[in-house]
Amino acid sequence: MENRVIIGGQWGDEGKGKVIDALGEGYDWVIRYQGGANAGHTIQVGAREHVLHLVPSGIFREAVRCYLGNGMVIDPWALRDEILALEEQGVRVRNRLHVSSAAQLLMPYHKRFDELREIQRKRKSIGTTGRGIGPAYQDKLARAGLRFGDLTAPLEKLERAAIEHILEANEVLAKTFDAEPLPAKVLAEELVVLAQSLRPLIVDGYSALRGVREGRESALFEGAQGTLLDIDHGTYPFVTSSNSTVGGALTGTGLPARCLGEVVGVFKAYCTRVGNGPFPTELRAEEGEQLRTLGREYGATTGRPRRCGWFDLVAGRYAVGVNGLVGLVITKLDVLDALPVVKVAEAYDLDGERRDDFPIRPDESCRVRPVLKELPGWEKPLGKCRRLADLPANARKYLEYLERSLGVLVVGISVGKSREQMVMTPTGVTA
Ligand code: GDP
Ligand code: IMO
Ligand code: MG
Repeated sequence: MENRVIIGGQWGDEGKGKVIDALGEGYDWVIRYQGGANAGHTIQVGAREHVLHLVPSGIFREAVRCYLGNGMVIDPWALRDEILALEEQGVRVRNRLHVSSAAQLLMPYHKRFDELREIQRKRKSIGTTGRGIGPAYQDKLARAGLRFGDLTAPLEKLERAAIEHILEANEVLAKTFDAEPLPAKVLAEELVVLAQSLRPLIVDGYSALRGVREGRESALFEGAQGTLLDIDHGTYPFVTSSNSTVGGALTGTGLPARCLGEVVGVFKAYCTRVGNGPFPTELRAEEGEQLRTLGREYGATTGRPRRCGWFDLVAGRYAVGVNGLVGLVITKLDVLDALPVVKVAEAYDLDGERRDDFPIRPDESCRVRPVLKELPGWEKPLGKCRRLADLPANARKYLEYLERSLGVLVVGISVGKSREQMVMTPTGVTA
């Protein structure tokens, strides 16, 4: 098996979970390396739909082991709940899921800070998922946080450390936000109980991934969020707090670059964004509503309606360049089935000037207007297509156009939610 990194090419929710599940068979590992429970990865297996926030999307493949890397910020309460929910549905998790001892512990006060800071930002709010991600990474970089390895300390020591951290956070809650304190003793006791159930999962990352490092074991790396939400390369400040571009897979696992293999980008056949910030091809009013209804575009984590727009080649080329993508998987092509015309942004117009490169400065990216090209729709259902030849000519033309314009092979096409609704095209879609 060739190792692969699967990266979101747009603003998240591209269907990474579905793609990882579909490609995951045969891999030794599926590895998450950044972000936390802000992710919502939906996987449909048989008639059942699962939404994963922390557990890697390889969990539905019995023979795959799953790993949460040091680059993640993990809420142990959320992790426990997710494991229990999976086990209740008969999915074996124990002995298959491993967590790096260097992963950051996301505590209840991080979530509280996340909410309060959003309120404080008022009209400038980011529209975070409220999962505590920014504050947890803040503590990590300030070298002030707890890590998963701390859960293996003697229980009294862990309880004392937790109380100390919560009391410190309570001071900030009172002084900065005039907010109620969190119950330190109760939460610390809960953490002690959680520690005992999560301990068996905690591993030393260097040893656990030795087989991958030495090339004896294969790995599929599961990106969360998307390229334009990257803390460094996204539409800052309307971004998440981790590197969702390919670099995150290195720092978030401690594996060397040669272990990553091919970098593949997942793109919706159109675009969506949840939360605030620039979105050049966004459609308003009825047109946006139409795509939202057709694609059932509501957040997998927060249930918020996703903003919808046409495929954006400018942002797409940027994602190809930043991540070094060598393959594209286009998802949700079936969502466009009924449309007589499909549009794509070929370039931007910034104050009357044509721009072919994504403007990373926020004052520019929020002012650009898309230069749209129209392509004829196919007006036929794609859900049953399994080979490229099954696709109607106009659907193939649309994919060929994306492939040519992005300069990267389309290696897979998703035409529905379920595992089977995939068309694999390893040599691309252009005849
Ligand atoms: P992720 O965060 O990138 O894993 O994506 P999400 O799970 O948040 O959002 C993708 C949504 O689209 C989920 O509801 C998926 O079940 C659904 N989905 C994925 N691929 C397809 C597809 O090809 N067609 C349709 N109609 N839905 C899809
Ligand atoms: P997956 O992995 C879509 C967005 C939030 C907000 C911004 C910052 O399912 O693709 P955060 O809570 O991370 O501080 O929020 O990032 N966001 C996502 N949008 N999909 C996601 O994950 C996201 N994770 C965060 O909506 O705009
Ligand atoms: Mg999602």
